[in-house]
Amino acid sequence: MARTTLTRTVLAAVSVASLFALSACASDAGGEPAGGGEPAGGADDGVITLGFSQVGAESGWRAANTKSIQDTLTEENGFELKFSDAQQKQENQIQAIRSYITQGVDVIAFSPVVETGWDPVLQEAKAAGIPVILTDRAVDSSDETLYESFIGSDFVKEGEMAGEWVAEQYDGEGFKAVELQGTTGAAPAIDRKEGFEAAIEGTDLEIIDSQTGNFTRAEGKTVMEGFLNKHDDIDLVFAHNDDMGLGAIEAIEAAGMVPGEDIKIVTIDAVKDGMQALADGKINYIVECNPLLGPDLAEIAKAVIAGEEVEKRIVVEDLAFDQESAKEALPTREY
Ligand code: AHR
Repeated sequence: MARTTLTRTVLAAVSVASLFALSACASDAGGEPAGGGEPAGGADDGVITLGFSQVGAESGWRAANTKSIQDTLTEENGFELKFSDAQQKQENQIQAIRSYITQGVDVIAFSPVVETGWDPVLQEAKAAGIPVILTDRAVDSSDETLYESFIGSDFVKEGEMAGEWVAEQYDGEGFKAVELQGTTGAAPAIDRKEGFEAAIEGTDLEIIDSQTGNFTRAEGKTVMEGFLNKHDDIDLVFAHNDDMGLGAIEAIEAAGMVPGEDIKIVTIDAVKDGMQALADGKINYIVECNPLLGPDLAEIAKAVIAGEEVEKRIVVEDLAFDQESAKEALPTREY
């Protein structure tokens, strides 16, 4: 039985307003960025040219994230935004970043599709004196001087929150679970898996199958169809995002079962479509991943260009919703 919980998880009480230690050595636009390298070209005309390489358009979350960035980094707000969509391919992102370096943008920002393999291109940006800001997803690099700041959620914590709720609700019932993983090698896929597994350790819940659905609704549906053909004892789906969970709902319904009842579903994101399915009883619990990163990115980019010191890690606040709290939240939901 579900209980009403609106879990305000202040992962770190970081207010953006308090992020910036006033730097005694604030440089003008042509100064050297914190990452070192050659002097930045930067913002002589007062406009910050920012090259952003987006992961793709794989999910409702991504659409909301792109909108937040495009709505915030506007001319009126002092930016010229160059935006590219990598279609979930690392090579496209590397190409876009190289192109931004060649164009001599003031700042590069990107959300890395996978965690590893970024050092060479980040070293090129550093050598060109162009500061880099990571949004949403982290890179796995031992050299933290290759980027100025990483703004995004704590994905391990999100997985833990999902697992803790499942353990609280279903431990003792011998549930068999299947997992729809995000894109292989992506930080949210790695971290959410880790957090969920840690949280259900010691319970009698068993993950009987786990496969990537690449964060898309279509692949989530296909993978769930495969799980349903292979196993006749699935009690619960843990999907690393809403879209894959929504695809799983389609597969479960097509198989003549009732999502949310015959098979429980727990997802991450809390975008409108996911929240609607939660309010409708087809999903049982959603941990939020806040996509509205545009305002934080704008502030950090301005601070970096002004030569101010910025926080290396800015953790975004996430909530969690059950079916009752989703109904309350939906009317005022921003995304
Ligand atoms: O990196 C954030 C994840 O990427 C979101 O949870 C998912 O929906 C998106 O594709």
